[in-house]
Amino acid sequence: MARKAFAASDAEWAYHGEEYVRLGDVRLSPATHGLNYGTGVFEGIRAYWNESRGTLQVLKLREHYERFEKSCRILHIELPHTVDELCEITLEILKRNAPREDTYIRPLAYKAIESVGVNLRGDSELSIFTVPMGNYVELTGLRCAVSSWRRTADNAIPARTKCTGSYVNTALAVDAAHRAGYDDAIFLTQAGFVSEASAANIFLVRKGGLITPPATADILEGITRDAVMELAERELGMPTDKRDVGRTELYAADEVFLTGTGFQIAPVTEIDDRKVGTGEMGPIASRLQELYFKAARGENPDYADWTVPVEVAARTAR
Ligand SMILES: Cc1ncc(COP(=O)(O)O)c(C=O)c1O
Repeated sequence: MARKAFAASDAEWAYHGEEYVRLGDVRLSPATHGLNYGTGVFEGIRAYWNESRGTLQVLKLREHYERFEKSCRILHIELPHTVDELCEITLEILKRNAPREDTYIRPLAYKAIESVGVNLRGDSELSIFTVPMGNYVELTGLRCAVSSWRRTADNAIPARTKCTGSYVNTALAVDAAHRAGYDDAIFLTQAGFVSEASAANIFLVRKGGLITPPATADILEGITRDAVMELAERELGMPTDKRDVGRTELYAADEVFLTGTGFQIAPVTEIDDRKVGTGEMGPIASRLQELYFKAARGENPDYADWTVPVEVAARTAR
């Protein structure tokens, strides 16, 4: 099943070359190192439109830039800005673009030198752009398959960096899953334990408890994963057991759901042609989804610190 793709408009404001520019005015050489060798890192941040307040609520903004900075450090990418400055730049782009709909923010930092030769030396570039983004996947029940592609091991390409090159692994697995008629792929680690989905972390409900693979299962340590663990503990009194998960536990689970900025909270109702639980979205995923969206749209004062509001009532002239 084809997944929705969201296109960026050339007319939108972006940040590139340490200034605000129209996205369509940015040009990159085909010799750009990051393009040739995948030597870049990125983030995906969501801003939710809050109709009643006329604001965009930017979700977990600082957390995303803190992870971005760590990803950059691992790849020896020098950022021209602090985390605070990156947050400010992002808010300014949103103010300029003033989208009155759910929006995705894509910060990208990459090796910008235009020379042939694989290493991690040379100058870096930072770009930030936005695209409108509704639901990336269905939120009522996904059909998934365990992929024959294994998740890239952390000591091959660091799993906890959102490194552009490592998304070839993701693309191969998603492509194979879609061609076989599934919505998404679930990766196993080289050792055969459950890792994560294509671009989302995975949770299981078994015997009344919540389980997710540990940070050592070659996962990206998801910001939504942390948010969901917080909600489950605070609101449902369910602490999460972070432990190795065997493949067939997926088949035995009462509920399985995926979490991510793009995926949000997406229940999995079928894995490898076997129903998960009843084959319908389960009560835990359903409750967490409801709590998550309220917090993400800035509608639950208990989670006010999860989002930063941006007033977008007045749209600036283009
Ligand atoms: C490989 C991978 N795992 C997990 C996630 C979920 O991370 P987050 O919740 O921080 O978006 C993502 C990205 O969204 C991802 O690309």
